[in-house]
Amino acid sequence: MRVIRHDRNHPFALKMRELPGFDKLASDEKVLNYEVHLCACGLSRHKPFCDGSHAKTSGEVPGKLYAYTIDGKGREIQTTDDLKALPNEYEG
Ligand code: FES
Repeated sequence: MRVIRHDRNHPFALKMRELPGFDKLASDEKVLNYEVHLCACGLSRHKPFCDGSHAKTSGEVPGKLYAYTIDGKGREIQTTDDLKALPNEYEG
């Protein structure tokens, strides 16, 4: 088991226009205005892109730990040691 902690509950917006030097590669306004959203919550099933699964984290309380199944079902845990006692569905 590998435990990865994600604190962010919304995606990173990657704007093509803001990438250094991208304006030299593309001049089409449609391409320059293109924006992708990268998953930062860890729950997307289409990583690295956000698929909206971060909505499942909306009830999280800052400073608390949560474990999620691959299907995005979450529950609060006290420490990472609690992961050992969770059902197998919590192993990714
Ligand atoms: S940030 Fe992870 S699914 Fe949106």
